[in-house]
Amino acid sequence: MRLDILTLFPDLFASFLEESILGRAIKKGLVDIRLISIREFAKGPHKVTDDRPFGGGDGMVMKAGPIYRALESVERERDQTLVILLTPQGRGFDQPTAWELSKREHLILICGRYEGIDERVRTGCVDMELSIGDYVLSGGELAAMVVADAVTRLVPGVLGGERSNLEDSFEDGLLEYPHYTRPRVFRDQEVPGILLSGDHEKIRVWRRTESLRRTLERRPDLLRRAKLSEEDKRILERLEQESAKSETGS
Ligand SMILES: C[S@@+](CC[C@H](N)C(=O)[O-])C[C@H]1O[C@@H](n2cnc3c(N)ncnc32)[C@H](O)[C@@H]1O
Repeated sequence: MRLDILTLFPDLFASFLEESILGRAIKKGLVDIRLISIREFAKGPHKVTDDRPFGGGDGMVMKAGPIYRALESVERERDQTLVILLTPQGRGFDQPTAWELSKREHLILICGRYEGIDERVRTGCVDMELSIGDYVLSGGELAAMVVADAVTRLVPGVLGGERSNLEDSFEDGLLEYPHYTRPRVFRDQEVPGILLSGDHEKIRVWRRTESLRRTLERRPDLLRRAKLSEEDKRILERLEQESAKSETGS
């Protein structure tokens, strides 16, 4: 997979691209991430990339010209290239969207700054607008890192033998069960005995129950969309009864 990231601040990405899973995926050639400095496509001796807004008001707006030229410099993969604008006004980025994007061979991410980008970039050359949450960042770079990280870890081979992503939260519409590692007792808190039992079937049922319990307690909205087996439904019924009992104190 190839990702081209258009930004005014390419240096912000340095350690993010070198470390850990993403760094290894890049070294192995599974992911190719290129940083395109929008400033290099600005004209004039001062390489100006922003200007005052038409109509007045505070702040500066990123000019369309340098972004169009930066986009035109990127070689496209026919039918596979998707141009994404990071913006708080976009569609909410989530795990299904990460899967959708991981199937593309080429993504171009555009990072805004200041008050945002001249609207003609959005109307003229953007295929998708993504927001990483209902808050406003100073720039699109952190959002681009979030999207790049979540998407590339789904590319086949990136997680390697290290672990599977299929049990992660949101993969089957549920939150994941809790994890424990050594020591067995830490500051008077013990690991649940079942995890030390060696009984794989009991451990599977315990993990599924905890996954359903967490989702019920923290994100009941997810349960409405999750694909639940008959076993899941029975477990949920029991969890709901337990919680009703504890609420009435009986
Ligand atoms: C200060 S913000 C501009 C916000 C814009 N004035 C608005 O109210 O919609 C600057 C840039 O940060 C990025 N950004 C800010 N919040 C974001 C979010 N929640 N998701 C994705 N990108 C975001 C966008 O690229 C945006 O152009």
